[in-house]
Amino acid sequence: MQFDFQLDFLQAKAPPLIGVDISSSSVKMVELADAGKGQYRLEHYAIEPLPRDAVTDGNIANLDAVGDSVRRAWKHTGSRVKNAAVALPAAAVITKKIVVPAGLREEELEMQVETEANQYIPFSLDEVNLDFQIIGPAPGDGSEVELLIAASRKEKVEDRVAAVEAAGMKAVVMDVETYATQTAADLIIRHLPNAGRDRTVAIVDIGSTMMHINVLLNEQSVYMREQTFGGNQLTMEIQRRYSLSAEEAEIAKRSGDLPENYADEVLQPFMETLGLEVARAMQFFFSSTQYNRVDHILLAGGCAGIPGLEGAVGGRTQIDTRLANPFQGMVMGSKLKNRQLESDAPSLLIACGLAMRRFDPT
Ligand SMILES: Nc1ncnc2c1ncn2[C@@H]1O[C@H](COP(=O)(O)OP(=O)(O)OP(=O)(O)O)[C@@H](O)[C@H]1O
Ligand SMILES: [Mg+2]
Repeated sequence: MQFDFQLDFLQAKAPPLIGVDISSSSVKMVELADAGKGQYRLEHYAIEPLPRDAVTDGNIANLDAVGDSVRRAWKHTGSRVKNAAVALPAAAVITKKIVVPAGLREEELEMQVETEANQYIPFSLDEVNLDFQIIGPAPGDGSEVELLIAASRKEKVEDRVAAVEAAGMKAVVMDVETYATQTAADLIIRHLPNAGRDRTVAIVDIGSTMMHINVLLNEQSVYMREQTFGGNQLTMEIQRRYSLSAEEAEIAKRSGDLPENYADEVLQPFMETLGLEVARAMQFFFSSTQYNRVDHILLAGGCAGIPGLEGAVGGRTQIDTRLANPFQGMVMGSKLKNRQLESDAPSLLIACGLAMRRFDPT
């Protein structure tokens, strides 16, 4: 078996790079730079729509279409940076913590990882990309260390690498979407009361097809869940009601250019359903963990662009609800349009978390 470190999330890489999020509705890119004094500067970003079914359930179904969107997004940013950090959906990655003796040499570590991986990965190791990272000392007398192993089927990694290569870019970092979200969320949590310390914060990302919930406490994830619910439901209702094509409905939804009864008869019921879904998700969290409160909800994903959604979710859940804007407090590049960015920001969490990989300590 050959070890290659394609899946080396959390390992240091040479700057600069662009975060490239390939999601089901679009390709999103973010490029950050160091603005000094511990601040980031948002240099560029772009959101380029994908044709329906080009990416389904996190799988690239139409490589050409995805490659084209990556190329257009890249062009749109105007950036000359070629290196990309991309991510796999959590469902495509198996991770496991193991404990090994401290002080092993690299080859010995690889042997251990391979042996362990053989036991729990349900397919041949020839078909997977395997990676590992030392987390730190294991509890006890210091004679052991904790190791995080990550494995993903090769084709999942290769598809993403191929999609960015088709656009003329180069994948240099392969991360996991949930980790990237968390990285970006930490930026936002810092701005919460008490700098977010000891606060339970639920990141609720509502995209086109999925709702991802990740509850964080002191930079650790304490709960993760996803369910099928997303903005496509609203788009489909708009299509049905007003006899529009999917593309027309999508444009009308974002511009709000729809008949008068839209707000009351279509949008309002959708927002109510969404609020209920979030409230139910919080109940699930309480009933399946030791926790019994959430201090803040941060709304992410494209649906967070619906005006007034914080109010709807806050009202239903009785939890302080805000929009997740990872760029809050960052220096803005000169060419960015602030108004547009404000509504785009919550859907750029993953791309932003990936862009931050540029600043990994070496
Ligand atoms: N300003 C807006 N107002 C309302 N809905 C919006 C707005 N902007 C985007 N959306 C909706 O958000 C959804 C896309 O969100 P996002 O980009 O987070 O999804 P995704 O990450 O591609 O999907 P998924 O996470 O399900 O794979 C679409 O349904 C789109 O219509
Ligand atoms: Mg998404």
